[in-house]
Amino acid sequence: MSKHTGRRWDAFRRAAIGLSVVAGCSDPVSATPSAVDAGLVMDVAVDAPVDVASDLVDVSVVPPLPPLEGPPVLVDTNPDPTVVEVSLTASAAEANFTGTLRTPVLAYNGTVPGPLLHARVGDRVIVHFQNDMDVPHTVHWHGLRISDQMDGSPRIQQPVEPGGSFTYDFVVPEAGTFWYHAHVNSIEQIERGLSGSIVVHERQPPPVDRERVIVLDDVRLTAAGRIGAFLDSGPDVGRGRLGNTLLINGSATPWAFEAPRNSVERWRIINSANARSYTLELVGATIRVIGTDGGLLPTPYETESLDIAPGQRFELEVRYEAPAEQNEVLLRAMVLTLDANDQVVTVPFPMARVSLVGEVPVRKPYVAPKVTLPFTDPTVMETWSLALSGGQVDGGVEFTINGAAGHHLVDAGGPHDHASRLFQQMTPVAITLRSNVSPEHPFHLHGQFFQIIAPASRAAEEPGLKDTVLVRGAQSVTVLTYLENPGRWMYHCHISEHSERGMMGEIEVGPRQR
Ligand code: C2O
Ligand code: CU
Repeated sequence: MSKHTGRRWDAFRRAAIGLSVVAGCSDPVSATPSAVDAGLVMDVAVDAPVDVASDLVDVSVVPPLPPLEGPPVLVDTNPDPTVVEVSLTASAAEANFTGTLRTPVLAYNGTVPGPLLHARVGDRVIVHFQNDMDVPHTVHWHGLRISDQMDGSPRIQQPVEPGGSFTYDFVVPEAGTFWYHAHVNSIEQIERGLSGSIVVHERQPPPVDRERVIVLDDVRLTAAGRIGAFLDSGPDVGRGRLGNTLLINGSATPWAFEAPRNSVERWRIINSANARSYTLELVGATIRVIGTDGGLLPTPYETESLDIAPGQRFELEVRYEAPAEQNEVLLRAMVLTLDANDQVVTVPFPMARVSLVGEVPVRKPYVAPKVTLPFTDPTVMETWSLALSGGQVDGGVEFTINGAAGHHLVDAGGPHDHASRLFQQMTPVAITLRSNVSPEHPFHLHGQFFQIIAPASRAAEEPGLKDTVLVRGAQSVTVLTYLENPGRWMYHCHISEHSERGMMGEIEVGPRQR
């Protein structure tokens, strides 16, 4: 298979259109009354409903995409301003993380992190993927609610063999910050460099002076600059592989840039690390969280520090309203690391230094665009409970969900056995994730968004749409999803050392019955 067929594109297009109708409520008639009642309609005023089925878009009025600072941007070769067409080639390459050491990596278009894919909500995105590595590969578009045929799940897509190619073709249904990464042998492929950022712009983005993309990662380098060996025992398995070198946009050197005093920036932060959760602090500027995995928040909130688990994204409004005597703003990560005695300790680590140079007038306070999240009435839900656990099996460590390990899901190409559970599209489902042992698990569900609804403290402190939620050791959290996107969707811990040892499953969301 792996070949793109017209028939599949049609099916996919229908699915994408169905989704955009519900998400943007462009056609209330076709959203079932129950969907509307259940609060499925996401009324996002900044994103005027996009009729992707129509070919009547007046291309002459489409402005260019806003500029972004950060990783290099993929070159769009398609002249149609509503189509982003790019080439992505995975190959062996060399990275220069530290400025001195050369590190053999696997990279998309030769850079780590991979180049930034950006588009506007409703755009069609065509990615010509070429595998120039000697290992099989799929690309997963983490967080995009596209067709499962394009999701890069090795359960559905036969991995692209060395020398092979595949065209990913989808419509980006909502604005936000997302990322793409390997979904075959993820422990090694993501660690070796195969991930990149995605930005889907709103039709009318909130005004800021500059936007930045910040990809956080950590890599374990040997003294010679090689990627350290992959261990299959010890803490690497227990809590996931931590690196010894923190990276911001692929560099171990803090990002240094200038900004005028009083200017306002929008930062889009992605945690692409295998296992490291970051706590970020911005010293000398005000930050407000304006967006989460699923896009902008209805009510932004100020914060002193930000926790971001592997797989998650946050968008910040950063205001450089510093007193005259202060000329620098520092972004730092409070990170867990091992001290000389192999004890876990927390240390501040500089990630970015902003020199305040020049001055602009103070901007009006940010006004959040009108965003209405699906409502979270607990009375209309189906419930589903997932116990995340693990233990020793036959001398190795195995991770389980409800007592079963989903190793077989990791390996592609096998017969597609049944998904672990079947749901109806548009069914509100409360998923309770319980971890009974100490390591934390960033739990990710493909192709859908959810909101935290319990415990109440977390629901209040972590608002917004997510596709990845951190389940802390020996705690539980309940999320509510509406399963708006039909298809077969993997769910797994985003610590690959856990998912590939069994903490992985798949659901099937059946098409809505009319
Ligand atoms: Cu980013 Cu299956 O995950
Ligand atoms: Cu885990």
